Amino acid sequence: MSTALDENERCDVRDPGYWTRYVPFNHPSSPAPFVETVFQRYDVKTSAGTVAIRSMLTSYELSILFALAKDYWTGAGEIVDLGCLYGLTTRCFAEGLSLNTIADDSAKAKRIYAFDLFLAENYEWWTQASRTVHAGSWFSEFIDLNLDHMPFIAPCPGDLLKMSWGDKPIEILMIDAAKSWELNHWVVSRMFPHLIPGQSIVVQQDYVHLAEYWCAITMEYYHDRFETLDFVYGASGVFRSIEPISAAEAAFDLGSLEDSEKKALMDRAIAKAPPSVAEVLKVAKAKMLIDMGELAEAKRLLASVSTKVLNENSPGDFSGIAAGCLVKIAVDVARAEQAEAAGRH
Ligand SMILES: C[S@@+](CC[C@H](N)C(=O)[O-])C[C@H]1O[C@@H](n2cnc3c(N)ncnc32)[C@H](O)[C@@H]1O
Repeated sequence: MSTALDENERCDVRDPGYWTRYVPFNHPSSPAPFVETVFQRYDVKTSAGTVAIRSMLTSYELSILFALAKDYWTGAGEIVDLGCLYGLTTRCFAEGLSLNTIADDSAKAKRIYAFDLFLAENYEWWTQASRTVHAGSWFSEFIDLNLDHMPFIAPCPGDLLKMSWGDKPIEILMIDAAKSWELNHWVVSRMFPHLIPGQSIVVQQDYVHLAEYWCAITMEYYHDRFETLDFVYGASGVFRSIEPISAAEAAFDLGSLEDSEKKALMDRAIAKAPPSVAEVLKVAKAKMLIDMGELAEAKRLLASVSTKVLNENSPGDFSGIAAGCLVKIAVDVARAEQAEAAGRH
């Protein structure tokens, strides 16, 4: 396997080969900076030794970020990593940037913006033991993991809702912090007007999952502004900007759409998705219906969800995600049933 590109040769993001060649468990000589030890646990080599770190992303998704920074990024815009948590996503971008031969080295300083609260609060279930986490912050781990490439990185600790972006173009936008309609609106209104048509890549890391159904609604609302490139296990939808989105357009709050419009957009996303992705999106739509108070309709839809394996061991098979989402949504269904029963008494 060759991982090297000819100098200044940019990868074709329509061909998944641009990132699959870097997945370390398939290509042990990959220059990607991580090795998966157990699901969602990684060893990362740093100049201070090997760091064991958790990421909610899969090796496939991390390889995409590495490949985009190494073989696609031109320097025309910034790389924005929203919701980097311990920072393995940032490390993948930074390692890719360090190996990138498309842009001049002089253009690489402070081009990766890594946003997160960096708080252990509400993530106790995910927090790794460390010497410093008693202080309630993961920022120290983020620094340790990314120290070798810090000149490329602008760490941005804090609440996105209290932050801003300004008007710098964005070439790669990784979204893993759109955890509410409000945060989604922040991302769309602040970031989407700065995408570069024909160039910018948007990774929606919660697209093929149940809780953040607004990601699918958002991409469907702006369907004529993006080209869909890929859906990749764990939960990522990968898109390329093809037409501009003005600041005035992006200021519209998608959360304010009528329920009927949200349903229509979800239906469109389901209809055009590959079959395995569509099953997860059906669970996401059911979650939306529960949030809208339409439990009976949600249950009817859930009864139609298939978890059949369609492409075994392929990054395009989401049967495991569909099964996991069904387990999770059973809790929402039970809660909604209890609420309905309480309302009847
Ligand atoms: C699912 S986790 C991200 C997982 C991560 N990308 C990884 O590789 O493991 C979502 C992240 O969004 C961040 N987040 C949630 N709300 C936020 C806010 N208001 N501002 C900044 N970050 C926020 C959380 O701190 C958390 O790290």
